[in-house]
Amino acid sequence: MKKIRKYMALLLTGAFMIGIISKPSMMAAEKKNQVTLKINQVDYTKKTCQIIKGTKVRIQVNSGSIIGKKKIKYRSFRPKIVSVSKNGLAKANKKGTARIKVTVMSEKKKSALWMKIKVVNPVKAPVFNFKKKTVKLNSGYQMPLNGLGTYSLTGDTCVQSVSEALKRGVRLIDTAYMYDNEKEVGKAVRESGVPRSEIFVITKLYPNQYDNPEKAIDDALKRLDIEYIDLLLLHHPGNNDVKAYKAMEKAVGEGKVHSIGLSNWYIKELQEFLPQVSITPALVQNEIHPYYQENDVIPYIQSLGIVVQGWYPLGGRGHTAELLGDETISEIAKTHGKSSAQVILRWNLQKGVVVIPGSSNPNHIQENTELYDFKLSKKEMKQINALDRNEKHDWY
Ligand SMILES: NC(=O)c1ccc[n+]([C@@H]2O[C@H](COP(=O)([O-])OP(=O)(O)OC[C@H]3O[C@@H](n4cnc5c(N)ncnc54)[C@H](OP(=O)(O)O)[C@@H]3O)[C@@H](O)[C@H]2O)c1
Repeated sequence: MKKIRKYMALLLTGAFMIGIISKPSMMAAEKKNQVTLKINQVDYTKKTCQIIKGTKVRIQVNSGSIIGKKKIKYRSFRPKIVSVSKNGLAKANKKGTARIKVTVMSEKKKSALWMKIKVVNPVKAPVFNFKKKTVKLNSGYQMPLNGLGTYSLTGDTCVQSVSEALKRGVRLIDTAYMYDNEKEVGKAVRESGVPRSEIFVITKLYPNQYDNPEKAIDDALKRLDIEYIDLLLLHHPGNNDVKAYKAMEKAVGEGKVHSIGLSNWYIKELQEFLPQVSITPALVQNEIHPYYQENDVIPYIQSLGIVVQGWYPLGGRGHTAELLGDETISEIAKTHGKSSAQVILRWNLQKGVVVIPGSSNPNHIQENTELYDFKLSKKEMKQINALDRNEKHDWY
């Protein structure tokens, strides 16, 4: 009996010791699995969420670490700006910033978290002017609806392609640090004889430049040598992208850059990014073609007053044959006496998407400008919309 008591005492001491020793690691595990506040799956526990005046969002509480019967209380500290109902439905009433306190309680544990909500005024979706072939950006500048993409055009081929495009009335040119052709684009622009103010040049900073963005912007200006950049984009989300964007905001103030925007940003990325910056992007450039249509992303971006521009409009090199040979598109093209490429580009325009097809072939460059003398019917738009396969042709 004595022996049993001794063993029991030892066991209890051991268990007690394990309890003490393992407590910190248990706490660490709990910390990892803390309560979080989400809206549309984005964690806003420590970040600011941005919503449009007049809209409602539901605060999703992930209270994984709080076990047992839970009670959740929501409280707004500026209810005139954001009011929140008992079940976590937050309503944006007025422009401004409000703080919401969410308390999760059980018999054993209580946890209070804060969420900041910035309410912005609703904006008008950008409107395409088909007569002038331009759209007004939220920065106040006008931008052409169709342009020339220069990805994979280098050296003399790039200079010649841009010159041919400018000769044929194209006034929008898309380049990037990553394409290694900013010098050639700048040369063709300078030597074109077209007034600088009539040409709109887009370039992009690459993620490996985001840690020293001021230098990256000045280097791009030097390589292009065209006085200013019409529109500067971040090429992809990446480390220090907010820092790089803030440097672009500064460059706008200094007159080095007229407008700024993003590329390869989708709904979730925009919801996280926008509350952290001051200037709403003027444009978002994403992959868009009949086999990858982004039908949920496009209206979302447009509802923020941001212009959408599509890359790989013809599917991208290596994929154009299938897309241009698509039976539905070819049939529609025949009806209008147009090429498949023209039908795809026009479909984009009618969806409110600016097009920048890439080409080094003067005939194609010419063809890609003739998009305004025909119109696709509602039925034809629907037929092309039905071709969506959610098939991305590049990794980002
Ligand atoms: N932001 C990003 O991450 C990103 C990514 C990729 C691309 N981009 C931008 O988007 C632009 C467009 O993409 P892309 O140039 O790679 O692909 P794309 O425009 O979808 O396709 C270009 C291909 O289509 C052919 N083509 C052009 N017009 C044609 C026509 N009328 N009829 C038949 N074929 C025609 C071109 O050949 P020919 O030379 O023989 O005409 C070329 O092989 C790029 O140049 C770049 O500026 C941005």
